[in-house]
Amino acid sequence: MHNSVLYNDMKTILVTEEEIDRIVTRIAAEIDRDYAHMEGKLLLLGILKGSVVFMGDLMKKINTPVEIDFMKVSSYGNATHTSGRLSIKLDIDRHDLSESNIIIVEDIVDSGRTLSYLTEHLKRNGARSVRVATMLDKQCRDPEFKDFKADYTGAVIPNEFVVGYGLDYAEKYRALPYVGILKPEVYTK
Ligand code: PRP
Repeated sequence: MHNSVLYNDMKTILVTEEEIDRIVTRIAAEIDRDYAHMEGKLLLLGILKGSVVFMGDLMKKINTPVEIDFMKVSSYGNATHTSGRLSIKLDIDRHDLSESNIIIVEDIVDSGRTLSYLTEHLKRNGARSVRVATMLDKQCRDPEFKDFKADYTGAVIPNEFVVGYGLDYAEKYRALPYVGILKPEVYTK
């Protein structure tokens, strides 16, 4: 896989394929432990597009029966009302969430804006419980979201331009099986 043409655009590999496998195994075990005695059902909610690779790997390693669904959202920093700050491009494919223990599955948390708004939105819409699993956390929270913390975190990473394992630059690199830091000349040229 390191002979992919895209590998030449990497400055450093930050999280290897082997490390990712260990992380996903650990998070799946934590989820199995935490939801062993739940009431209702477990719903993995992938946020498009970045979550798809992590979602696919994670759902295979969780032994607890799960249902899956997807949303596509954008968030805005300058709207007056919280409800106007989340733009839903593709909504969850069900109306009654009262039996659903939702785990939002994300590739990365950065400012915390998207996940703060989305968690609030799902709770307001009647979800039985809402937690967040993220593969990466940049811990670059906006002051407004400084208290946001994911319930399951794969790796805490530096504030660098990372791609791979779902993450893109101009829609490239999502399919890489590792997380890498892009060479600056790739995005400054
Ligand atoms: C990324 C990521 C989160 C969000 C996190 O999505 O998947 O949804 O940004 O950033 P925040 O903590 O600053 O809100 P992106 O908008 O890049 O969309 P994509 O997954 O389709 O690439």
